[in-house]
Amino acid sequence: MRTTLIFHLLIFMLSISTLAFSTDTTEDIGKKLFQEKCSECHQQDGNSKDKEIPNIAGTSAILTFDIMDQFKSGDRKSKPIKLKDSAATGDKTETDMNEITKALKTNEIEAIAFFLVKQKSKPASQAFDQDLAKKGKEIHMDLCENCHVDEGTNNIEDASILRGQWKNYLQSQFKVLSEGERYMPRRMKKRFRKLSDEDKKALIEFYISPAN
Ligand code: HEC
Ligand code: HEC
Repeated sequence: MRTTLIFHLLIFMLSISTLAFSTDTTEDIGKKLFQEKCSECHQQDGNSKDKEIPNIAGTSAILTFDIMDQFKSGDRKSKPIKLKDSAATGDKTETDMNEITKALKTNEIEAIAFFLVKQKSKPASQAFDQDLAKKGKEIHMDLCENCHVDEGTNNIEDASILRGQWKNYLQSQFKVLSEGERYMPRRMKKRFRKLSDEDKKALIEFYISPAN
């Protein structure tokens, strides 16, 4: 699946280079789309202020594209999200990432992905358990570091940035991943299956602890 995506992105980059006469760069188009359709929940730069909503700033373009595709196809189910101004608009009270991605065209998702990768990820500041975080770091270095590199701060390997993500969101994802309700690469699955509930708690405390 990933190879097709990379191919698609390459074709996309070629197609934008032929649009040299256009004044808006892909990043500009992505920024505008993000402000209109995403910033209400993910903020202007993808660093969310809500503990149920993930930080997505700095995500690699391939990973954003891949995840949006999983939401769009329904392979990854999203929790319903309450809309803040529903009382004012009166028409809709809930939406979810499945509904949001279905309303987007492929080239719009690509432009958003190009905008997001340029945004700086700002870790959420949260209380954490120091002893558990220390234990979590050991497990991480042993089983997860080769994809979630630089202690979970870097997604150069196209694996999610875990460090500085919101605790509530991480807990919800550890749950759906444990229940097999969300895609994960085969090599991650093999390692994830080895984790005890205690290991998972420790890993989460490590991921919410500040990076040096
Ligand atoms: C109404 C609030 C809301 C809006 C608007 C919204 N999102 Fe989300 N987004 C969420 C929530 C909540 C989740 C976590 C969903 C889950 O997995 O249950 C999420 C998850 C995601 C994820 C997965 C992150 C990860 O680490 O796996 C990506 C990527 C994402 N959103 C991108 C976008 C983009 C791009 C837009 C605009 C086109 C957008 N979202 C609009 C609330 C929102
Ligand atoms: C083979 C590489 C690889 C290994 C090893 C790996 N992961 Fe992942 N991980 C990924 C990729 C790729 C994703 C994004 C999956 C997707 O949604 O497309 C991911 C996603 C995640 C997510 C979801 C993050 C989010 O923002 O929603 C969590 C949590 C996670 N990994 C934890 C772990 C833990 C804990 C380990 C070690 C036990 C681990 N991973 C090992 C590649 C890996």
